[in-house]
Amino acid sequence: MLNSTLQPLSILALHGPNLNLLGQREPGIYGSLTLAEINRLLEEEGFKLQAKVFSMQSNHEGILVDTIHGAFGQYQGILINAGAYTHTSVALRDAIAAVNLPTVEVHLSNIYRREDFRHHSYIAPVAIGQISGFGVQSYLLGLQALVNHLRSI
Ligand code: DQA
Repeated sequence: MLNSTLQPLSILALHGPNLNLLGQREPGIYGSLTLAEINRLLEEEGFKLQAKVFSMQSNHEGILVDTIHGAFGQYQGILINAGAYTHTSVALRDAIAAVNLPTVEVHLSNIYRREDFRHHSYIAPVAIGQISGFGVQSYLLGLQALVNHLRSI
């Protein structure tokens, strides 16, 4: 199929706690790009994929839950880096399950090479897949995977 015939998609990119500090936060682990720079790269990648990417960040679990609820009917899929809530939040997991939107989980760092408490993800069982450890490429690969998935269902 020609790219020009593809239906435009709307994707929600959701960033969890402390990711607003990217660029200054532990750059040896999370890299030197700011969240605004990552969001711009996601928009550019989305443009190539004919997907509009809307980004949102919050440090508050309830706001993230509300945003996931609000995604129903507005977006076709969710790209999420839930930050530390990945390892703690049954509420985020349940919100994703409730709206039942295809969701890809991403992490800048390889959570399985780090502390034991980061090895478990509450999000993974309700995600279609997870990409972890490739820095900003985790987001871009995750977006590609999500769009490919949405175009194949
Ligand atoms: C993170 C990994 C989490 O363990 C951590 O709490 C974060 C960022 C990542 O992108 O590597 O805040 O999700």
